[in-house]
Amino acid sequence: MDLERQAVERVLPRLLPAEDQWPSRLHRAMRHAVLGGGKRIRPILACLANRAAGGDPEAITEAACGLEMIHTYSLVHDDLPTLDDDVLRRGRPTVHVAFDEPTAILVGDALLTEGLLVLASYPVGPQWAAARAEAVALVAEAIGSRGMVGGQMEDLEATGQVAGDRVPGDPGVRLDLIHRHKTGCLLRASVEAGAVWAGLPVDQRMGFVRYGECLGLAFQIADDVLDSTATAAELGKSPGKDAEADKLTWVTLYGLKEAQKRLDELETEIVELAINIEGPDGALAALARTVVRRRS
Ligand code: IPE
Ligand code: IPE
Ligand code: MG
Ligand code: MG
Ligand code: MG
Repeated sequence: MDLERQAVERVLPRLLPAEDQWPSRLHRAMRHAVLGGGKRIRPILACLANRAAGGDPEAITEAACGLEMIHTYSLVHDDLPTLDDDVLRRGRPTVHVAFDEPTAILVGDALLTEGLLVLASYPVGPQWAAARAEAVALVAEAIGSRGMVGGQMEDLEATGQVAGDRVPGDPGVRLDLIHRHKTGCLLRASVEAGAVWAGLPVDQRMGFVRYGECLGLAFQIADDVLDSTATAAELGKSPGKDAEADKLTWVTLYGLKEAQKRLDELETEIVELAINIEGPDGALAALARTVVRRRS
């Protein structure tokens, strides 16, 4: 995992336009967002899944970094005053604080677009053409209105931040829908893209897809738990925001103890799914444990 993270940290700065390249304000702000820390879970997951599916992760580092650029776009927009209104991210001022709101909107637009361009361009060479096309399509589907952005919409509607708020229905079902979409979709797509880049045909990817879905759900429940238990120094973002904004989360709906219990159950499930893919003691199981037990 450390090797994959180092590879991502080495490649990401080269994929982003230089600060002195026009329009330099935008490029400075993009680099502020992407290069300011972050766990890099999505590209790491893609690399680990790639290896487990028989690929060579070194060949896909650039492509995997496209996932991190897209994820960072989602954070920049998520933090905007009109959405979650957060001032701290990855231990630094959010883009709209360090720069301004219009710039933060454009940073998100540009990172999304450039991230898709990276997926469409890497790995380089005609032998990768089919994998590039398949990966860019599956990621685009995962982050669109029926995926990540749909989850963000539901998150805002559940909070009453937009009209059409608080429709009747089971809040547990709604919460599951939010988590599986706003966070689960891109994490699942990252795992699946890793398998695609290894040349694994669709009928052999189900194990990877299920692992990614389960991990994605656990990742967001852990995020909910950390919002109510961790410090700003640990998180690099402001804690306590979910309760303050009356967000629908695992902690606000079921309480901390239940959330923790569900996380323990999910950890067992994800590790089993990982073992089905890679046998015992593999990197995908280790990553799942890290995700569930993380403090940041
Ligand atoms: C935060 O994602 C937003 C969620 C989807 C929960 P991460 O926890 O992966 O944030 P970084 O990339 O490490 O900053
Ligand atoms: C964000 O969920 C999900 C996306 C950015 C798509 P949160 O709003 O819970 O993430 P944090 O807590 O701000 O990182
Ligand atoms: Mg949010
Ligand atoms: Mg947020
Ligand atoms: Mg959160």
